[in-house]
Amino acid sequence: MRRRKFLKYCTSVLSSIYAIILAVPALGFLFSTLKRGQQEKATYELAKLNDLEPGVPQRFTIIDRRVDAWTKYPSGPIGSVWISKNEDESITAFSSTCPHLGCVVDYVPGDKVFFCPCHAATFESNGSIVSGPQPRGMDELNASIKTIRGEKWIVVEYEKFETGIAEKVSIS
Ligand code: FES
Repeated sequence: MRRRKFLKYCTSVLSSIYAIILAVPALGFLFSTLKRGQQEKATYELAKLNDLEPGVPQRFTIIDRRVDAWTKYPSGPIGSVWISKNEDESITAFSSTCPHLGCVVDYVPGDKVFFCPCHAATFESNGSIVSGPQPRGMDELNASIKTIRGEKWIVVEYEKFETGIAEKVSIS
């Protein structure tokens, strides 16, 4: 009888240990998701305002650390943005991710249009649709100018959006 009690006790202890082992990653995932929801959007100082030519978009790569529920990855490219300086020195920033299926959108200086080589989506330089299968225009990002040590820098709030749908839905 005592042996049976002991075995029962051992089984419940082992079950508790297994439950804890299984719960730790699940809780990590849950907390990282909640934390992500509370985080402010990441901002990046990408270029000095004076380095851009008015009316000529330039592409900048976003470098950052990628973190998911299980892994922290070292710093690397996580996306890119097209930035245009307007004649009045205001700026416009677009995600370079095509809103159709996520390829990288290029700029064609001769035609002054953005062009996605995957399925020939074409956009005006203001991001609106010219032709192609894309369900919406290019995704504009919040951008501002910040003075750092006496120089004007372009700061972009980078985020990713759902592709293939007409609405602009953030998935960052
Ligand atoms: S992914 Fe850009 S047109 Fe299809």
